[in-house]
This record gives sequence, structure tokens and C-alpha cells, in this order.
Amino acid sequence: MRTKTGIEGLDIMLNGGLLSGRVILLSGSAGTGKSTLGMQFIYNGIKQFNEPGVFITLEQDKEKLKQDMKSISMDLDKLGNSFSLIGGSMAKIKYYQTKTKAKLEDFIAEIEEVVKETKSERIVIDSINLLLLLFNTDEERRKALLALTEALSRLKCTALLTCEVRENTFDISWWGFEQFVVDGVIAMYNVKKDPMFYQGIVIRKMRGMDHNKNIVPYKITDKGIAVYPEEPWLGGETKIEK
Ligand SMILES: Nc1ncnc2c1ncn2[C@@H]1O[C@H](COP(=O)(O)OP(=O)(O)OP(=O)(O)O)[C@@H](O)[C@H]1O
Ligand SMILES: [Mg+2]
Repeated sequence: MRTKTGIEGLDIMLNGGLLSGRVILLSGSAGTGKSTLGMQFIYNGIKQFNEPGVFITLEQDKEKLKQDMKSISMDLDKLGNSFSLIGGSMAKIKYYQTKTKAKLEDFIAEIEEVVKETKSERIVIDSINLLLLLFNTDEERRKALLALTEALSRLKCTALLTCEVRENTFDISWWGFEQFVVDGVIAMYNVKKDPMFYQGIVIRKMRGMDHNKNIVPYKITDKGIAVYPEEPWLGGETKIEK
């Protein structure tokens, strides 16, 4: 069973779509379009495929996010009950370091409640960085991400977890282990090659299926993200000079 993102070029790269019920990391540095792609996944799910969806924003203010999405042709207020936007509150969690474990469990419980109530089939958590910052060691962080991934899998939702990465690298996660816990990784890059920046997207891992393995160009316009699987990245050159 496939879950189409509704972004044509990306669905072509995925040979039809994501495997339904899987948890995918969507990584990229600042401004590469992670939130936009995530929201398009939810928006298209509702508009094109009649699948309810939940978007959880952990850092970005909900109203600002709605305004931003309007500028790229997504009016979230018009999606009705099929759309749930949760967020803001996680920012407070860092003040409850001693209750970290309980808070992760609360967070998972809230997701489960909303997904069951709304019968959501798609979920985006934007981003997991703040969530993982609550823990003190890599071991705890990895266990937390595993617990979250398992909870999402139990819910049978197709999930995108956005992940901020450092600038000017080809890193696909912040801590270096996130990519091993999830079922798939899609990475978005913004690489400077004078006199321009080039945006490129690649499917780095997708357990259980074949897919396009090239970095291909994408563009953000007032219609959202468009992916061009047939076009060469970096103006046709494949070698990247550091
Ligand atoms: N209306 C628009 N037309 C064209 N491009 C736009 C438009 N609105 C936003 N963008 C581009 O999208 C980028 C922001 O995308 P988005 O917020 O999805 O990125 P992000 O990866 O989630 O960023 P962050 O790391 O800050 O969360 C902007 O920096 C801008 O380049
Ligand atoms: Mg964002």
C-alpha cells in the first residue's frame, strides 16, 4: 500500500509514493522547505486523497505557520475537521527536565488521542530536534525516538518527522543516529556554488522498496514545492566541490 505525497516529482521518485504506515525522517538545514513539504503532505492528503492528517508544530507559532502556508497557496482554515494543527506547548518542556520521561509519554498519548479521534492517516512532527534536546544522553535520545517511532507505527499512520541539520554539510540528522531508527530518510539540501544556491532533494533510505537514488532539483514557489526528477542538479554537474 502506497501513500502519495501529492508532490508529483517526489511520488515519481518514490515509484508511486511512501509505503503506508512507515515513519520517515525529512531532514534539511534552515529554510530548505521541511515545514512546507510536510504541510503539503498533509494538505494533499486531505484535498486529493480524502485522508485526514495531523500537523504538530513544536517550535513555530501556529498563526504564523498558517500565514506562511497561505503565501504558498495552502489555506489551512479551509480544511475543516480533517485537519488538526497542534503545537506551541512543547517549547515549555525544557523547564521540566526532571519530568522528561513523563512528558514524552504525555506527548505520545496526546498524539494517539488526536489520531484516533480524527481517524488521521498522516502525521507530521515539525521538528524532532527540540523533542530530542530534552534528553541528556544519546542513549536516552535514541530510546525516545524509538518509542515515538513505535507509537506512530502502532497507529498505522504514515509519518514525516522533520529534522534540522547543520548548514553546508551533507548530514542527514542532527545527532547522527536518527536515520537508523526510522524507516526512511528524505534529505533536502541548499548548496552554494557561486554565484548561486542550488536546492536538491534525495531519498537517502527507504526500507522495503526501490526508489530514485539521485539528488534532483526542487523549487519553492507560491504553489509550494515542485520536484524535478528528470533534471540534473547543480546545473548538470555531479561533482560537488567543498
Ligand atoms: N510564497 C513563497 N514563494 C516562494 N518561496 C517561498 C514562499 N514562501 C516561502 N518560500 C521559501 O520557503 C522557505 C521556507 O520554507 P520552510 O519554512 O518550509 O523551511 P524549513 O526548512 O521548515 O525552515 P526552518 O528550518 O526555518 O524551519 C523560505 O525561506 C523561502 O525561501
Ligand atoms: Mg520549518
